[in-house]
Amino acid sequence: MSPLAVTRTLPADATTAALRADVAHGLTRTPKQLPPKWFYDARGSDLFEAITALPDYYPTRAEREILISRSADIAAATGARTLVELGSGSSDKTRHLIKALTGLHTYVPVDVSESALAAAGEALLAAHPELTVHALVADFQQGFALPGTPGPRLLAFLGGTIGNLLPDERAAFLRSVRDLLAPGDALLLGTDLVKDEATLVAAYDDAQGVTAEFDKNVLNVINRELGADFDPDDFRHVAVWDTEREWIEMRLRARRELTVKVPALDLVVPFAAGEEIRTEISAKFREEGVRGELGAAGFELREWWTDEAGRFALSLSVRT
Ligand code: AVJ
Repeated sequence: MSPLAVTRTLPADATTAALRADVAHGLTRTPKQLPPKWFYDARGSDLFEAITALPDYYPTRAEREILISRSADIAAATGARTLVELGSGSSDKTRHLIKALTGLHTYVPVDVSESALAAAGEALLAAHPELTVHALVADFQQGFALPGTPGPRLLAFLGGTIGNLLPDERAAFLRSVRDLLAPGDALLLGTDLVKDEATLVAAYDDAQGVTAEFDKNVLNVINRELGADFDPDDFRHVAVWDTEREWIEMRLRARRELTVKVPALDLVVPFAAGEEIRTEISAKFREEGVRGELGAAGFELREWWTDEAGRFALSLSVRT
């Protein structure tokens, strides 16, 4: 058996079917919306990696700072033999954790991108040949089963990606995560924190325009996969802070009145000048809110660590 096992939980055409459904639904409703998971084809994943290095985009650096300073605490508190990581992507920050978890037997990265999983899995195995890597190609919002691996388990969901879910989706997601774990298993959750509007808006509308390219990439994906004729230049990227709901919204705003054809769906989509597609929410959190949401899902918050500047938090909870 290869030391790197990959399990697909979705048939190869499930991605296209899901994209078709999301586009058919999202571009015929008012206001228009598209789910953020469709940003991440090969180019979108590269653009996101570029975002993480931008001066304006602080979350990745802030989270890495916490992971480096707290890895030993996390290892001691959990004694994890299996590490499951949702939305693992390049597994870059996870390296610090894997190095600290001395009793680790199996790493289970879970991602929608098979190419990212394979590359990250190979790189990790080169550095840790004794580790069993069982990659799962899965959409963590769809619900999936974990391979039988030794406990105790630590499930990590980093980067603040939980903020891409709406509050009721977050509740359902946290419940499903709880159901994957046994009592005493741990959850390591990364959450970006509420802060001043200027810092937040700059992080999602950077001076170099990389986030604008990333946002518009969803239009390229729809063009390629569904034969649509979006011209990305017809749209302007906007990032808006919603003070009430405490989330950033990314939107694509039509610069003029136009129509877009989506042949694979037999669809013609009219846009008024200034009309927007909501492409992402990125919710920001406070400690009491995170504690409450975790508690409601059956987790008890044990540790709350922030970076020195207090921009981002990692929390460690136990499944009760
Ligand atoms: C990968 C979901 C954590 O919401 O900050 C970065 C995605 N969007 N810039 C985030 C993203 C715009 C990112 N997450």
